[in-house]
Amino acid sequence: MIIAIDGPAASGKGTLARRLAAHYDLKRLDTGLLYRAVARAVLDADGDVEDPDARRLAARDLDGAQLDNEADLRMPGIGEAASIVAADPAVRQHVLAFQRGFAADPQGAILDGRDIGTVVCPDADVKLFVTATAEARAERRFREMAPLGAGLTYQSVLDDIRRRDTRDTSRAIAPLKAADDALLLDTTELDIEAAFRAAVDLISGLRAAI
Ligand code: DC
Repeated sequence: MIIAIDGPAASGKGTLARRLAAHYDLKRLDTGLLYRAVARAVLDADGDVEDPDARRLAARDLDGAQLDNEADLRMPGIGEAASIVAADPAVRQHVLAFQRGFAADPQGAILDGRDIGTVVCPDADVKLFVTATAEARAERRFREMAPLGAGLTYQSVLDDIRRRDTRDTSRAIAPLKAADDALLLDTTELDIEAAFRAAVDLISGLRAAI
């Protein structure tokens, strides 16, 4: 079974994907980490994510081992840089190949990101589109990141989320949007346990209907 989970930053899709992967015994790929790894590689080489040559080179050399240091990829600022490299079609082409290779495992997989149900795995067995208001997402992200980054405020996190939402939904290639056949899950009022239960119910309902 392939499960595709899409949604905006801090919608809860990552935690949900991890829980569902354990529940259904599937391996999981957080595809946002791939774009974060590309951005990180550019910055580590003293490059600029606005430079097409630098980001394309980094995407071409993308290697799964770069995902190992997840905490580093989640540092403040890398999400914004990832959103910039992710708007480049050449970068997306390299990252697409990586994701398709992962999803080709006959045991199945869960992938979460922005374009999994629409572009990466359009034939996924289950597609979930996870949303929440920008304010609820900023509140969650702020609580996660406040211990990490000096000078972070709720307002700066909300501004960052809104900026990324705008870039991710309006880019010309593979914009963030729900696939026509995606099941919608709004987590604004749900904690992780409730979101997980709701997702399992949606998936069970879908599989019973097939
Ligand atoms: O989910 P995240 O915050 O780790 O993602 C970082 C950025 O990567 C996000 O702003 C947009 C981009 N991204 C994408 O364009 N497509 C994906 N499938 C996953 C992430």
